[in-house]
Amino acid sequence: MSTLVIVGTQWGDEGKGKITDLLSENYDIIARYQGGNNAGHTVVLNKNVFIFQLLPSGILHKDKVCLIGNGVVLDPEVLFQEIENLQKHNIDIKERLFIDYKTHIILPYHKITDEALEEDKDSRKIGTTKSGIGPAYADKLSRIGIRVCDLIHTENLSQKLDMVLNQKSDYLTKNLGIELSKNLVRDIKEKYLQYGKMLEPLAIDGSLFLEEQIKKNKNIIFEGAQGTMLDVDHGTYPYVTSSNPVAGNACTGCGISPLYIDKVIGITKAYATRVGEGPFPTELLDSLGQKMREQGYEYEYDAATGRPRRCGWFDAPVVKYANRINGIKEMVLTKIDVFSSFKKIKICREYRIKDQSHYYFPGDSELIPFAEPVYEEVEGWEEDISNIRSYQELPDKAKEYILKIEQFTESKISIVSVGPERTQTIFR
Ligand code: GDP
Ligand code: IMO
Ligand code: MG
Repeated sequence: MSTLVIVGTQWGDEGKGKITDLLSENYDIIARYQGGNNAGHTVVLNKNVFIFQLLPSGILHKDKVCLIGNGVVLDPEVLFQEIENLQKHNIDIKERLFIDYKTHIILPYHKITDEALEEDKDSRKIGTTKSGIGPAYADKLSRIGIRVCDLIHTENLSQKLDMVLNQKSDYLTKNLGIELSKNLVRDIKEKYLQYGKMLEPLAIDGSLFLEEQIKKNKNIIFEGAQGTMLDVDHGTYPYVTSSNPVAGNACTGCGISPLYIDKVIGITKAYATRVGEGPFPTELLDSLGQKMREQGYEYEYDAATGRPRRCGWFDAPVVKYANRINGIKEMVLTKIDVFSSFKKIKICREYRIKDQSHYYFPGDSELIPFAEPVYEEVEGWEEDISNIRSYQELPDKAKEYILKIEQFTESKISIVSVGPERTQTIFR
């Protein structure tokens, strides 16, 4: 039996989807433990592009079982759309996709609130995906969330929804000037009753299921969404998502003991990107940032929302910080192929903050505006490396870049990804 947590070490979009799909080969079960359809995990298989927002990225392997854990917030509309898309590719999820009874549901008023707060001139703009993630997690913590089990046991559903809808209606009218129409309220009740019926065959006790599988020596991947710097506790608060992408949450988000986690692997992009607002010390606002965004096979536009990603140099204090919090000793380096034809590449080795060296991203957020990246420069390479399949064949300058990242982050890179396809991968 072996278990693995896959976690992003930056601001999301590191390539977790590609690597989860790749490593799924050697695992039996792939479980998502947090986030919702704010995620966009891309898997490219024989030029077919799949973007998974809720389905675990192992789902393309027809013999693997996938679980959406209790820690996820689930928008049924998005889920069933994703399942339908897969069916168009003749990929069936029957008997191999399960959802925990305790998983919280995203309802239309969560999306309405998220959108309204983002547009409200008196509220702080986070640049969220407007998919209702924050409001759904807020309701979970306020103990007024609706869960998969509530949608299945319909006898009390109408009463539960009435209670919440009254509260939401009051809040939205008073604070954001939005009326929930009678028609909308009626539609929500009808639609979610229907979703309950559709979810029932998929719903299980995820924790019990995993315990049974572990006893049968099955191998499990816990797939994180977002990244450590978007973690609500450890990220660049308040410019974060509303859940904990960090590896420790794999246990809470799937209902298993920490004693069952064998290994954590960090997915790290060869440069840094972020979508939405918030601090980004190594951001490039010039033509080099533009070049990073437009280079390579896949443009740096967000898989979930299509927004352009902000780009910048590799930030070792960020990754070192993420590696500490997640217990990462081993990383997968993705998208290094994007640097082909860059004459010089910079790596941020440390920050200078008020005349002191900082090798980790600062825990005191008030220091972040003072962080001045200290860069080391390496030579770029001319060759296209996307068809290289062995480490030895990489240009020396690319190897030098990889070694520098290992040195500055004090961890090993065991896999190098040189393109979006499953096959564009170098195992070291
Ligand atoms: P995730 O959210 O961490 O799963 O990452 P996304 O799927 O949002 O973003 C990663 C993007 O880069 C996707 O378009 C992938 O297809 C693509 N990608 C993944 N690995 C590589 C790589 O090594 N090289 C290149 N050029 N693209 C990659
Ligand atoms: P994956 O799993 C990149 C960002 C949003 C915004 C902030 C809060 O594909 O790596 P939210 O809608 O979660 O309340 O938005 O978090 N964000 C992501 N950025 N990749 C993601 O997921 C993200 N999920 C959320 O852009 O800045
Ligand atoms: Mg993504």
